[in-house]
Amino acid sequence: MNPAAPILIFDSGVGGLTILAEVRKTLPEASVIYAADFAGLPYGTKSEAEVAARVCGLLGRMAERYQPRLVCIACNTASTIALGMVRDVLAIPIVGTVPAIKPAALATQTGVIGLLGTGATVRQPYVDRLEAEFASDKRLIRHAADALVPLAEAKMRGETLAERAVSDAVAGLRDDPAAADLDTLVLACTHFPLLADELRAVFGQDVRLVDGAAGIARRIASLTGGQSFVRAHEDFAVATGDVDNLTTLAPILERHGLMRAMQF
Ligand code: DGL
Repeated sequence: MNPAAPILIFDSGVGGLTILAEVRKTLPEASVIYAADFAGLPYGTKSEAEVAARVCGLLGRMAERYQPRLVCIACNTASTIALGMVRDVLAIPIVGTVPAIKPAALATQTGVIGLLGTGATVRQPYVDRLEAEFASDKRLIRHAADALVPLAEAKMRGETLAERAVSDAVAGLRDDPAAADLDTLVLACTHFPLLADELRAVFGQDVRLVDGAAGIARRIASLTGGQSFVRAHEDFAVATGDVDNLTTLAPILERHGLMRAMQF
């Protein structure tokens, strides 16, 4: 193993930074490349075939160019659709990000769990399987909240969000009569923890927000356990699409230790 080989963290946009933040805490010495597919954003309103083609194609090219020791698909939409396919084509460990239904089922007191994801995620058979395995005795209410994705992107660019924007995006879940006893909310899109304050303001401080970021960082640490890390250069971000996206994101990328950003 080349000690300078990075960990590649991939998302459609800035959502994967919520995973990177946990990886930094768990593996501060690891060199990381953060990859954002802005040209494909959003994934959540695309078909399964479109998402799978983009993710497999891009990760294949990125793996060839950057020779990572491990790839983390820091996106629930991409993982629930394409994790198996990416594992089939890349000969390195691939860590996916899938809805944190198991910890939510362990945490709920009322037995009523909300799940906020993208439209593509909430309809995946992968989520049906997680529900059947870990929450078959619970009431899991799924809600597609694609409108939260551009809100999280805008917040990371320092823009002010319209007052009711987050509340409107989750109204379908809040207004569901079954949600009256909801005490746990799975944030099944990596963009959504970036809006945790706004979601707490809407659902109330007593509702527990659950995401998988810390568990994913632990999984990456365990898969790279015993390996040595040498930083050959500063960590950086790469992105498809409009390079201006990267300029406006520079402050937040730097806060995550990504000191340069370039087009892929
Ligand atoms: N961050 C991605 C996820 O975790 C989705 C955002 C998008 O729609 O592209 O599902």
